[in-house]
Amino acid sequence: MNVKFGLIGHGFMGTNHVKTLTNLAGAELIGVCDIDPQQLTGVPKHIKTYTDAADMLKDPAIDAVVIAANNDQHRKLVEAVAAAGKHVLCEKPVALSLEDLDAMEACCKSNNVTFTVHQQRRYDPDFRKTKAVFDSETLGTPYTVKTSLYGFNGNMHDWHVYADQGGGMLYDWGVHLIDQMLWMIPGNITTIYADLRNVINKEVDDYFHIMLRFESGIVAHIELGTYFLKDQPGWFERHWFIGGNKGSMYVDGFHPTGAIVRTTQLLQSVGNQRTMTAAGPTRSFGPPPEGRIVREELPEADVNHKMYFENYLAALRGDEEFLVTIPQVRRVLKVMDAVRQSAASGKSVDFQG
Ligand SMILES: NC(=O)c1ccc[n+]([C@@H]2O[C@H](COP(=O)([O-])OP(=O)(O)OC[C@H]3O[C@@H](n4cnc5c(N)ncnc54)[C@H](O)[C@@H]3O)[C@@H](O)[C@H]2O)c1
Repeated sequence: MNVKFGLIGHGFMGTNHVKTLTNLAGAELIGVCDIDPQQLTGVPKHIKTYTDAADMLKDPAIDAVVIAANNDQHRKLVEAVAAAGKHVLCEKPVALSLEDLDAMEACCKSNNVTFTVHQQRRYDPDFRKTKAVFDSETLGTPYTVKTSLYGFNGNMHDWHVYADQGGGMLYDWGVHLIDQMLWMIPGNITTIYADLRNVINKEVDDYFHIMLRFESGIVAHIELGTYFLKDQPGWFERHWFIGGNKGSMYVDGFHPTGAIVRTTQLLQSVGNQRTMTAAGPTRSFGPPPEGRIVREELPEADVNHKMYFENYLAALRGDEEFLVTIPQVRRVLKVMDAVRQSAASGKSVDFQG
């Protein structure tokens, strides 16, 4: 039998969810709610619309509700959906504090409904290629893992610029970028150092550089800026890099290109050869001799965001576990708290977990 969905919030992400849920085997979207009636004009005619979530939640046919309203609305909506006995799938960042997350989880448990979060970027192909290389251990012992996203036009928009509505880039992209890193790199984090800035936005952060030191010794770097102005087509840059003692890996773009790169001459001192470069004469950073650097193709990563919902349906049936669990989500929020603490003090902070 199809799982019957309701959706709360029909804005940027809500319209995306309508497309997914109306094209997903095993799912049926039967209700959409938005407090702003203007936002409901594009909802397909066969789906019932509401301007008050309480009215939609009275429909006994609805099994599960996707919440895609503004961040500051999540807690009250999660609690209302759970109280109505429907399964809860909330957009990220699910909560603006650990306290809110705990309350939401307790409410879902006491109402005996499932609770998970739309952190679908675990299915990004660039990330999955990076993770496949990391998991294969083909780079030997990794020492640095870097992920970065830079926007070139300087804009943030709508409620994302207001602190009381849960704005800012740490809550927005930060959740995804931290979640990807924590899901990939095993073991506990021991230390966090972060720079978090309001470069041009008055109330909210629009740049961060986070360093996570894991107990294994790996240091993960996560950097995002919305104000990296450049006059180039594409208007953003996305990169991954892993450095290991048996090779490097780079992945560029959301339609990823990149390679695993090795040298044929490891652990040997090379001849003292000077090369004149634009930076002046160099020995360490000159071009390698022919054949010294070898390239390998990246592994395939045949993933897409629809797979998030396929996993969701399978988990509701009891055939799979939810890919995104609340303890994982809590760990991301804890890291974000430590990021704020480090940025405020200008010092690294100890972290357990
Ligand atoms: N997972 C992702 O990749 C991703 C991408 C973008 C946005 N999001 C998340 O989706 C959520 C919505 O973001 P957006 O960019 O679509 O915002 P948006 O402003 O475009 O849309 C939000 C909609 O929710 C409606 N709304 C607000 N409060 C409501 C309430 N109490 N009841 C019913 N409707 C309500 C608004 O009227 C608006 O139409 C946010 O939590 C955001 O972080 C996730």
